[in-house]
Amino acid sequence: MSSNEVIAALMSVLGEDIVSLGEGIAERRTEDWSGLRGEVPLALARPRSVAQVSEIMSICNHHRQPVVVQGGLTGLAGGACTSRGDIALSLERMNAIGAVDTISGTVTVEAGATLEAVQQAAEAAGLMFALDLGARGSCTIGGNLATNAGGVRVIRYGMAREHVLDVEAVLADGSVIGGLHRMVKNNTGYDLRNLMIGSEGTLGVITRAVLRLRPRPGAVATAWCGLADYAAVTRLLECAQRDLEAGVSAFEVMWPSFVDYVTGSVAGLRRPLGSRHGYYVLLEATGSQACAHQERFEGFLATMLENGVIENAAIAQSRADAQMFWRVRDSTADFPVTLPGLVAFDVSFSIADIGAAAQLCEREVSATWPGSIVLAYGHLGDGNLHLIVHVADADAQTVEDIEVLVYGIVRDFGGSVSAEHGIGAKKRDVLDHTRSADEIAAMHSIKRALDPFGVLNPRKVLPG
Ligand code: FAD
Ligand code: LAC
Ligand code: ZN
Repeated sequence: MSSNEVIAALMSVLGEDIVSLGEGIAERRTEDWSGLRGEVPLALARPRSVAQVSEIMSICNHHRQPVVVQGGLTGLAGGACTSRGDIALSLERMNAIGAVDTISGTVTVEAGATLEAVQQAAEAAGLMFALDLGARGSCTIGGNLATNAGGVRVIRYGMAREHVLDVEAVLADGSVIGGLHRMVKNNTGYDLRNLMIGSEGTLGVITRAVLRLRPRPGAVATAWCGLADYAAVTRLLECAQRDLEAGVSAFEVMWPSFVDYVTGSVAGLRRPLGSRHGYYVLLEATGSQACAHQERFEGFLATMLENGVIENAAIAQSRADAQMFWRVRDSTADFPVTLPGLVAFDVSFSIADIGAAAQLCEREVSATWPGSIVLAYGHLGDGNLHLIVHVADADAQTVEDIEVLVYGIVRDFGGSVSAEHGIGAKKRDVLDHTRSADEIAAMHSIKRALDPFGVLNPRKVLPG
């Protein structure tokens, strides 16, 4: 059927308040933060209710019309980028946040609510929504769940899927799944919630979710540590997890290349330590009573210094100090501006391998492209390495060569080509570096069963 017919059907059922065409969408972004280019889609649908999402999907499925779901467009894998023939389905009008249930520790939200708004609602009720990442002000719960986002507190609270009790989603044919249950335990057949989480808009449109809230910690202690080598980094992690009783809530590692680059190029950032080291760790630990917790934290770092695990540390004495440390870590948002054409990686290895793997990537890239910039940092407590590679005036072939080199090292180490950002449009061709042929075949079977005409986010995630 022609695109005119599907537009006519959508217009007649939903009207122009919901469906925009032409000039209504020309100014809108067609791509996420991945660096991939998008095209202006055929139409933009901005439903106000689950029923409207269901109507849109039912019509599009009937007409075999491709639909790309969009949240806050902060994704880093190109999953939300549109092509000319697509209909973009934005959840931006479905952003309501229900009342917090303080007894169950839950809140039910619409998928278009931003992560930050949900964090604020939880905080206002005396609880915490523990998922956190740099794009919090723009990214949506729908996007967080669709990508199974990670972020900086995975080590303590887990990935996005650990923060969800139930998910409501509209499938390709318009049917609606998910009962918005508010209980932790629910072993009733196949886990459809977890099938939707991480499916990057290819299996269903997430419309609402019951999120799990946590008690707010009474105290947070933060330090910026300088260490000599990778063995010391893993030793610090091991000791911190053993000795900091209430738990490590962040263990973010930055290689010197990263710290030198961002403190030299991003306005307003300064080095938390005057001394120079082989590695830097932003360590955060939560506790209950402020004074006693800070004292124990400082005692732990003093022991680490005496034992030679760390070479130096700056301990935050105020929230402002801690924010200053975090600003260095979160300055990555400026990379697309300061390093145009960068090639970004979100890979994972076992924690034991990550030091050697990062070193190999850095050495091989520098040897192949002298003068290139390689910045390494990551959520090391989760084995997650982010690598930024910049080769001046890199053409498409150079970008491909950089990817072949790094993903080859990932495969050789038995790592993952995506730790937390997802596969999207960017990494379909390297899915087989981490997943077996049988696993990919099983994924295709699931896709065919739930979306037989392939209308949901075609050409994303699965190869071929
Ligand atoms: P979008 O970019 O709009 O979409 C992402 C994918 O989800 C697409 O495939 C889209 O089709 C799908 N999708 C969106 N909404 C829905 C829905 N309602 N139903 C079904 N599918 C949907 N990620 C991390 O994991 N950890 C980090 O630490 C992290 N830090 C970041 C820092 C910055 C500065 C930036 C720009 C991004 C960062 N990200 C990080 C990337 C991260 O994936 C996104 O920020 C976020 O999870 C995506 O949400 P979004 O609403 O912007 O989704
Ligand atoms: C980060 C994003 C890029 O951790 O995942 O900064
Ligand atoms: Zn990350």
